[in-house]
Amino acid sequence: MLERETAHEPGAGRAGPEDGGTRGDDAAPPGVARRKDALRARLLAGRRALTTEQRAAAAEELRGHVLELAQELRDGPVCAYLPIGAEPGSTALLDGLRAAGRSVLLPVVPPRPGPLDWAAYTGPGSLGPGPLGLREPTTPRLGPAALRTAVLVLVPALAVDRAGRRLGRGGGYYDRTLGAVPPGVPVVALLHDGELLDEVPADPHDQPVTGVVLPTPGTVATGNNGRG
Ligand SMILES: Nc1ncnc2c1ncn2[C@@H]1O[C@H](COP(=O)(O)OP(=O)(O)O)[C@@H](O)[C@H]1O
Ligand SMILES: [Mg+2]
Repeated sequence: MLERETAHEPGAGRAGPEDGGTRGDDAAPPGVARRKDALRARLLAGRRALTTEQRAAAAEELRGHVLELAQELRDGPVCAYLPIGAEPGSTALLDGLRAAGRSVLLPVVPPRPGPLDWAAYTGPGSLGPGPLGLREPTTPRLGPAALRTAVLVLVPALAVDRAGRRLGRGGGYYDRTLGAVPPGVPVVALLHDGELLDEVPADPHDQPVTGVVLPTPGTVATGNNGRG
């Protein structure tokens, strides 16, 4: 797994507050930030320990599950992401969605903290160099409101719990973004087996997911989280 920040969670790797809890802009109980950081370290170590073969097998399973999930949806774009390192997912999944007739939108990190922008993935040739040496779409930026057209939103996560609480890499970008997803549209995190936990520490700003897809069990709905 990458030690550096990712294109979709560029705040990853920043130091937590010394007191481990008072991050300033909400009323999280003390210790949440510290518990998140400790859990991130454990999960990232777990991902680093996966072999290339294990990562490829997981990506292939996830591709099948997500393509099945997408079959059940009405016409419309899927918002997805480009996985990096051991992150669950693949460009083969993006290509599979396109082959199934879906348009695929990928996140573009805004210059300042704010909601993610979106741009179309139209095949491997539509990717170019982005910030931090990562790839990103070279197609026109559609603006954050493009998310409102999605019929499925696939998000990266390090872990999710049974109530749908999501732990990201620490950038908070999806927490600033997912509030715009219309009610009833599934927001689904792709995980490796073992990353659906009984409980993930959460702050009031954390935006829930409606479900997860894991390589082995496949799609699992998370608890009632108000998204419908
Ligand atoms: N809606 C928001 N508005 C402003 N800041 C936010 C918002 N959502 C998250 N943040 C900030 O982003 C940072 C990282 O959030 P966190 O939930 O720990 O990361 P992640 O969701 O990537 O695991 C926190 O400092 C948090 O205050
Ligand atoms: Mg969060």
